[in-house]
Formats: sequence, C-alpha cells, structure tokens
Amino acid sequence: MKGRDNMERTSHISELRKIIAMERSNGRKIALIPTMGYLHRGHLALVEQAKQTGAFIVVSIFVNPLQFGPNEDYENYPRDFDRDANLVKDAGVDALFHPTVEEMYPRPIVTYVEVGQLDTVLCGAKRPGHFRGVTTVVSKLFHIIQPDLALFGQKDYQQYLIVKRMVNDLNLPIEVCPVAIVREEDGLAISSRNVFLTLEQRHEAKVLSQSLTAAETFLRSGERSARKLEKQVRDIISGNCHGIIDYVEVRDAGDLSEVTMIEGPVLIALAVKFGSTRLIDNKLVEVDPHD
Ligand code: PAJ
Repeated sequence: MKGRDNMERTSHISELRKIIAMERSNGRKIALIPTMGYLHRGHLALVEQAKQTGAFIVVSIFVNPLQFGPNEDYENYPRDFDRDANLVKDAGVDALFHPTVEEMYPRPIVTYVEVGQLDTVLCGAKRPGHFRGVTTVVSKLFHIIQPDLALFGQKDYQQYLIVKRMVNDLNLPIEVCPVAIVREEDGLAISSRNVFLTLEQRHEAKVLSQSLTAAETFLRSGERSARKLEKQVRDIISGNCHGIIDYVEVRDAGDLSEVTMIEGPVLIALAVKFGSTRLIDNKLVEVDPHD
C-alpha cells in the first residue's frame, strides 16, 4: 500500500497490477528495473536513468531461486530488505515489488523461457541453467508488469544481450535499455557479492578492471589478435592476485560469437573466483576497422 513516503510497495502480483493499471490509465509509461536486492550505486544508476524518461518506475526485488545452480549461493545471497526499501524510496522510485518465492512460483515451474546460442557461452557455459532461470523470471515480470521499458546494467552484458534477444524474438513491446557499469574508485565493478570479499581479496580484486583497461590500451595501440589480448588479461590477473580465473574471453559484442582477428566492436569479458566469491567484469571496445 502507498505509505507516507509516497512509494507504493507490495509483494502481491494482483495489487501491483492494479497500481500499474491506474498509472497507465493516467497516460504514464511504465519502467521496470528488475533486481535481486542488496542494492548499491550500480542499481541506483538504473533508477537515475529511468527517472530521465519520466516513466512510473517499478523496482522489483526478488532473489530468484531458478537462476542459481545447486552448488551456488542462493541461500547465502546477501539480503537486507529494509535497507533496500529505504534506498529506493529515497531514490524516487514509484513502486517496489518484492514478491515471495511462493507468490512467483506457487507450484513447481514446468514452463521456461530459453534463449539459445547466446546462453551457451561465457557465464552460460560455466553456469548451466542460469540464463534460463533469468529469462524465465524476467518474462514473468514482463508479463506481470507489462513495462514500456526495462533497464539492465552492462555489468551483466551477456544478460542484457539475452534479454534484448528474447524481447526481439518474442515481439514483446518493451524497450530494453542498457546502463553503463558503475565502479568503485579503484575500478572494481560494484556488485552485491563484493561484501563477501576479505580485505585482502577486495584489495586484489581491483586488478580485474585494470587488466581490462590494459587490454583496451593494447587493442587501441594496434593489437588485433583476440587470443593475445586474452593472454595478456590472464597474465595480469594471475600475476597480481590469488583469484582463480573462470574465463577470460574476447567475443563479438553484437552476438557473442567467436573472434580471432578483431575488426569490429568486441566484448572483453572475465569471471574470476576469489575463494567462493565469483566476480565478473567486462569492457566493450569499439575499434575502427581501418585503424
Ligand atoms: P542484480 O544482480 O541485482 O542486478 C540487477 C540489475 O542491476 C542488473 O541489470 C545488473 O546488470 C545491474 N547492475 C548490477 N551491478 C551494476 C553495476 N555495478 N553497474 C551497472 N549496473 C549494475 O541481474 C540480476 O540482479 C538478476 O539476474 C535479475 C535480472 C534481477 C533477474 O533475477
């Protein structure tokens, strides 16, 4: 229900639908920002970008069990709902949707939305079923809320591309808007999982963004071999921290296909484990094919 703070909040699909129908009947466009909570400046950048559109902003907070593998951190995923609710209220969000698992999945789910190809590489190859869990819950949110636009961070660039492709393939009338990666002062991409890093790991983790910046410099100075760039990134990481590399890959930025000689925009993407904490980061680099 609408509180004194003027932000609607509900954990019920039926109530959310009523709130949205009312706004839509007043001619408001609806913007959706799906999250798993434990909000930080990265999430708030999505809110800021949504505010510029003048749309009615819905933030969802739902730690989606479907996108976690059996040995992943679903139970331990950080949660602090009261803090999150205050953050989004102060940020000027119009409605907060925070369903329970029972509300989203009242019975075991047997219907999935799966985007092929794009989900078989990078994080998709390392986390089987992860993107199917993401696209299924995001489709459910899209059907519940029917937003005009939805915002996704480029920190999860593969997720953004997959959602965009799903929307395209299924003719959903939703504009999928990318938002640039928000970083800490030393370059570390902000993530809810950063709280799990020990002081030493946190200190070392800055090497991830540094390795990507070095690769960009290497690329801009004329190196066009994807394998050489990957090796350079790997060497920087393994020479400067105790993290275990899950992958470092240079791929086509449009469809994540393999690249050997770089001729167009590429994504340099990595995943590195610090103890049990898996961090991802990436950099999009556009090069002029005539350089
Ligand atoms: P979550 O990790 O909470 O992220 C929610 C959104 O915030 C995603 O679009 C993510 O890319 C964006 N985001 C997170 N950190 C960011 C940063 N440092 N800079 C810019 N954007 C950032 O991604 C998910 O949740 C889930 O998979 C979800 C889409 C909600 C489906 O369950």
